[in-house]
Amino acid sequence: MATDWLITGAGGQLGSVLLRQLVRRGAAGVGTASVSGPRPEVGEAFPIDLLNRDQVVALIQKLRPRYIIHAAAVTNVNDAYRQPDAARQTNVELTQQLLELASEFGFRLVFISTDLVFGGDEAPYAETDAPSPRSVYGKTKAEAEQLVQQSGVAVALRLPLMFGVPAVDRPTTFMNQLRSLLDRRELTLFNDEFRTPIWLEDAARACIETAQGDVTGILHAGGPERLSRLQMGELAAKALGVDDPRIQAISQCEIGSPEQRPADVSLNSARYESLFRHSPGVPMSETLGEIVRQLGVGK
Ligand SMILES: NC(=O)c1ccc[n+]([C@@H]2O[C@H](COP(=O)([O-])OP(=O)(O)OC[C@H]3O[C@@H](n4cnc5c(N)ncnc54)[C@H](OP(=O)(O)O)[C@@H]3O)[C@@H](O)[C@H]2O)c1
Repeated sequence: MATDWLITGAGGQLGSVLLRQLVRRGAAGVGTASVSGPRPEVGEAFPIDLLNRDQVVALIQKLRPRYIIHAAAVTNVNDAYRQPDAARQTNVELTQQLLELASEFGFRLVFISTDLVFGGDEAPYAETDAPSPRSVYGKTKAEAEQLVQQSGVAVALRLPLMFGVPAVDRPTTFMNQLRSLLDRRELTLFNDEFRTPIWLEDAARACIETAQGDVTGILHAGGPERLSRLQMGELAAKALGVDDPRIQAISQCEIGSPEQRPADVSLNSARYESLFRHSPGVPMSETLGEIVRQLGVGK
């Protein structure tokens, strides 16, 4: 059974949307899901433990993919802080293994990285800026990026905070926030944490475009606007038709986080724009109508 595309982490928010886009395009693509996690709603996903090298090799031998988009990771910043060895094993060692397999089997590897490789004091960040991660999560991603760069055969696509409706039944911060807004529950959002957020659908498209191109090294695919978490919540409330949202603005300093949160990790995506002749994403306000439609709620 040969396939063109293999998506790791297809039971996750990005991986599930990626797999759905590929299926809708009529592309030959499958995913991996974790053994205990949810399966994507659209497309076929093989449940495997990616830390089991034999299972990974057997799957690649069977599928012979042309492209692997490696979206699986320990993605929760607090989990990575609490279990740094496990985070490193998944985010760094697994990536190294896939790079070796890319050389052996000849597939193109897109490693999904994050804006959290930056420290937050010198935004906007370009690909040429040195990483300065504050969290264990960011450090593991920066270390994996170095391996990708050294390999010379793969690309690390840095994505910002993603929002949207995943194609899998799993809780996400964004979906929980929408539920709070709809239920008129109080929602506490930072007014001093800035990102260049991207819609999940745009992020998935950027992954596919990047795979089909020939860029190596590091590439940024950020959204077109710099928004705080508070601004994102206010835009979402408006789109949902919630006139009196119970949104409480707070500062990062007001919560006791074990790791310092970066203030502004906005990405400069000029390189992407010049390579693909369009911005990786559209403004959040232009996506919310579709998000509300996908949810089947709102005014
Ligand atoms: N979310 C964001 O806003 C954001 C921003 C920038 C970059 N990123 C990056 O984008 C990628 C996708 O993020 P996401 O939010 O879609 O993540 P997610 O929803 O947490 O999905 C990650 C998936 O990886 C799976 N996984 C982890 N370890 C595994 C293992 N050993 N074997 C098999 N599967 C394993 C998880 O399994 P379970 O189903 O069991 O959990 C999960 O399905 C990640 O690389 C992340 O670092 C995310």
